[in-house]
Amino acid sequence: TPSVGLVGWRGMVGSVLMQRMQDEGDFANINPVFFSTSNAGGAAPSFAEGAGKLEDAFDLDALAKLPIIVTAQGGDYTKQVHGELRSRGWDGLWIDAASTLRMNDDSIIVLDPINRDVIDKGLVNGTKDFIGGNCTVSCMLMGLGGLFKNGLVEWGTSMTYQAASGGGARHMRELLSQFGTLNAEVSTELDDPASAILEIDRKVLAHQRTDIDATQFGVPLAGSLIPWIDADLGNGQSKEEWKAGVETNKILGTSEENRIIMDGLCVRIGAMRSHSQALTLKLREDLSVAEIEKLLAEDNEWAKVVPNTKEASMADLTPVAASGTLDIPVGRIRKMEMGPNYISAFTVGDQLLWGAAEPLRRMLNIATG
Ligand code: HSE
Repeated sequence: TPSVGLVGWRGMVGSVLMQRMQDEGDFANINPVFFSTSNAGGAAPSFAEGAGKLEDAFDLDALAKLPIIVTAQGGDYTKQVHGELRSRGWDGLWIDAASTLRMNDDSIIVLDPINRDVIDKGLVNGTKDFIGGNCTVSCMLMGLGGLFKNGLVEWGTSMTYQAASGGGARHMRELLSQFGTLNAEVSTELDDPASAILEIDRKVLAHQRTDIDATQFGVPLAGSLIPWIDADLGNGQSKEEWKAGVETNKILGTSEENRIIMDGLCVRIGAMRSHSQALTLKLREDLSVAEIEKLLAEDNEWAKVVPNTKEASMADLTPVAASGTLDIPVGRIRKMEMGPNYISAFTVGDQLLWGAAEPLRRMLNIATG
């Protein structure tokens, strides 16, 4: 059984990862060594039998003993530790949720139901850094793998509706606190069916504009939205929008001449942990909707085609329906007015599962299997 260093297992993504590893019995195949950035010497978590004491996550000697390290500690930790470990000659596998190393030439973005071939080739060729993809990109490819993997997409735009969890645990709490204070502002009026709705609306807006706590997001999210996610690249594009194009092509391993053009607008909305996105795709062929739905449904066991009806879309194609599950519902598939090769699609995915934790635990199983 290989020893596997686990760093950042206590945070939000790390906790989801630990839960998934327990659910799937992954701890039976590894000898876990738990690290901590703040509590070295403390007791390792009880869900892994005999794991002993927490090691210091900044102790390079301790890290360098391990053949595999899995981290969900975040980009700053990766920046601080990964380079130093490599420069002292450590050649173990580094499996990481953070974006820091994602676009390096010598790293692979892991999403094995979509790019198992790329991963296997990398393992044979000596790739050592295996990095989880951006949540929006991973969820899109899981839902629409049947089109992307078969080279059927010429270009696409993705207009996103991203959940608070993408910002972090504190952002989720802030969103809920905002919903709460908004309600409290007008609860008397809400209890009175005869109160004037425009007066309620005025009070809500006044609260949003003046005294709502928006420390994490910077501006109110509850009852509003934020049409910008991540850094400003200075060319009008946000970093989150840039990732759609570069990561999609890197995951698929497309050659320069077959490059798929992907671009869009990324928007934060008041959902909890599932990212949604509306896609317009230009296909390379005039496929029928039935053919498209068949390709998507058959691509992987998690993509779930939702019939393009009002009832099914409302019931099964929402963050509430997808959250906490590994299903990636994909629906609203129809031909658009622009022509026979243009389709719309809408897909939703839990950004903590397929968007973060699941590809990492599956990569660990590939590496140790
Ligand atoms: N950048 C994503 C978001 C989360 O802010 O929603 C991490 O992939």
